Amino acid sequence: MSENAEKLSRLRTACEGCQRCALGRTRTNLVFGTGSPDARLMFVGEAPGEREDATGIPFVGAAGQLLDRYLFAVGIPRDDVYIANILKCRPPQNRDPQPEEADVCIAHLREQVRIIRPAIVVCLGRISAQRLIKPDFRITREHGTWFTRGAFSMCAVYHPSALLRDPSKREDMLEDMRVIAEKYRTLL
Ligand code: URA
Repeated sequence: MSENAEKLSRLRTACEGCQRCALGRTRTNLVFGTGSPDARLMFVGEAPGEREDATGIPFVGAAGQLLDRYLFAVGIPRDDVYIANILKCRPPQNRDPQPEEADVCIAHLREQVRIIRPAIVVCLGRISAQRLIKPDFRITREHGTWFTRGAFSMCAVYHPSALLRDPSKREDMLEDMRVIAEKYRTLL
């Protein structure tokens, strides 16, 4: 096991015992994150949904399957990247994360990022972008715009759930994903 894989495994074990917010009592499974421990590219969504809670794997429901199609379309193998969420536990009825839940859970995400040290972090949707890029992030206006935060190049794209609700956004998503893939390939 690589050093990063070992560190992530230890962090996962610590997270599995986490009861820092009430979602720890209602989750079926912790949804820690999946992918390469040495990924150069990391995607961060909002919070697990029903399928993710049932399986313990992020982005495996309808939105996740759509994300997979974009990754395939731009030639990025899902196993080469790392995928996580702001929250590691499912909010009941898929409601938006409450600020205090995100406040405590984001510490686990930051630790994951410190271990993996990706070059590029892509926020999936507004909630993630407002937490990780800037609080007043406007997804409609600023998706696909690049920001530098410390050692990371960051951007946000539409959340795949938004694309399921509004297919007119899918062209923009494909263009953003193409740019992300180009930038990613320059790092390999
Ligand atoms: N939506 C998210 O933001 N994350 C998941 O893991 C699944 C759906």
